[in-house]
Amino acid sequence: MREPWVVGVSGASGTPYAAAVIRGLLDAGAPVDLVVSRAARLTLLDETGRPFRDAHWAEDLAAWLGRDLDGADVRHWPAGDLAAGPSSGSYPVRGMAVVPASTAACAGIAIGLSKDLLQRAAEVNLKERRRVVVVPRETPVTRSHLEHLIALHDAGAVVLPASPGFYGAGADASAAQLVDFVAGKVLDALGVPHTLSKRWAGRLNADRT
Ligand SMILES: Cc1cc2nc3c(=O)[nH]c(=O)nc-3n(C[C@H](O)[C@H](O)[C@H](O)COP(=O)(O)O)c2cc1C
Repeated sequence: MREPWVVGVSGASGTPYAAAVIRGLLDAGAPVDLVVSRAARLTLLDETGRPFRDAHWAEDLAAWLGRDLDGADVRHWPAGDLAAGPSSGSYPVRGMAVVPASTAACAGIAIGLSKDLLQRAAEVNLKERRRVVVVPRETPVTRSHLEHLIALHDAGAVVLPASPGFYGAGADASAAQLVDFVAGKVLDALGVPHTLSKRWAGRLNADRT
């Protein structure tokens, strides 16, 4: 039985994080069900100059990921399609990553708003007690942002802020390395193997001679 990970891309800055997570899942041979919110299409356009169109999703996703999708097990669901597979708990999925997660998506999922398929799918995965990883990207944050993140944590989600560490690649880390650090943490939280970032080996850089 096909058991994909749902990847929900919402309209926070950070579409490269989503691309890195999707590439990592596909590299691990994990099927992906993709939901891209309306606002995420704006951030994608702003950050990459690329559109994401329901009618041309495969072509647009390949351009965004910078790779051919031939043989990749990806299914796309329009964000407005509330009758889509992931809107039901009986549709088999392993869990979901919301990456990046806007404050609006965090709020909507936390209070069960289900205003679109992304929010509904996240709510469904939480109620089914499946793994849900939420990657908020906003700074600074208000009390209500924090309260929504606490509600998500209490509902069983892993709250994994888009907050890259510099200890793997060093102070001269490239943006791509920092993106991969966060994407690697997301894959770790999903239990999906990857080689996106160096793991801490128990010794400071200064001691590695
Ligand atoms: C270019 C751009 C960048 C944005 N960056 C962020 C962000 O980093 N974090 C955030 O929470 N919202 C951000 N927003 C606002 C969200 O897109 C907005 O709240 C939207 O309603 C989120 O909808 P969604 O959760 O359905 O994707 C940004 C919007 C635009 C147009």
